[in-house]
Amino acid sequence: MPLPIVVLISGTGSNLRAVLGAIDEGRCDARVIAVISDRESAKGLDLARDRGIATAVIKLKDFAARELWDAALTRAIAGYDPALIVLAGFMKLLGTHTVARFPQRIINIHPALLPAFKGLDTHRRALESRVERHGATVHFVVPEMDSGPIILQGAVSVHPGDSEEALAARVLKTEHRIYPLSLKLLAEGRVKVVDGHCLIDGLPVPDSESLVPDPT
Ligand code: GRF
Repeated sequence: MPLPIVVLISGTGSNLRAVLGAIDEGRCDARVIAVISDRESAKGLDLARDRGIATAVIKLKDFAARELWDAALTRAIAGYDPALIVLAGFMKLLGTHTVARFPQRIINIHPALLPAFKGLDTHRRALESRVERHGATVHFVVPEMDSGPIILQGAVSVHPGDSEEALAARVLKTEHRIYPLSLKLLAEGRVKVVDGHCLIDGLPVPDSESLVPDPT
C-alpha cells in the first residue's frame, strides 16, 4: 500500500514536483494525499490542484498568536492522517507541539551538508567559507532546527567563480535526486533510527565527506 504523505510547501514546489514525478514513474511507493502551504501564493499549490490533490493554506497572519497557527497546522495535518509529513521548501519552523505530535514522521530537505550551514542563506555562506563541497541533506525533523537524524545527503562540487544562483541551482538538482530516493527508502521500511542516527538496510548513513559529488 503506497505510503500516504502530506507535503508542506511555501513556494515553487520543485521538490514536490520531483516527488510527484518519482511516484508517477514508479520510483517511490508513496501517495501525496494533501499539500499544505503557509502562503496562498505558493506555486506548488497549483501543481497539486492540477492533479486533484487536496490543498490547504494555513497563513500565520490569520492567527492572533504563533501557537494558534501551530495548532491549526497540526490539526490540518492530522486530519489527513499521513504516515509521513514531508517539508519541501517549507519556510516556517514547526512548533515543538507539532513536532511532538508526529514523532519521527516529519522529514525535511535542507540545502547544505548538515551539520554545516544550518539555517538560511546556505549557498552564500558556503561561498564565503570557500568550501569545495556543498550539497543537500534529507533529515528527520526534531524541535532543534536542522538537527534531526540524517537520512541521505547529496554532495556537489563548488566551482571557482560560482555565483550564489549557480550553486543553488546545482544543489537543487541534487535535492530532486535525494528526496525521492529518501521517500523510496522510507516507503520500503528500510530506514531505522538507532541512538539518534539513521541506519539504511542496517548500515550507517555514509559520512558527507565520503560522498562522491554529483556530476555537474
Ligand atoms: C530548496 O532549496 C529547499 O532546499 C529549501 O527550499 C528551497 C525551495 O524548495 N528548503 P522548492 O523548490 O519549493 O521545493
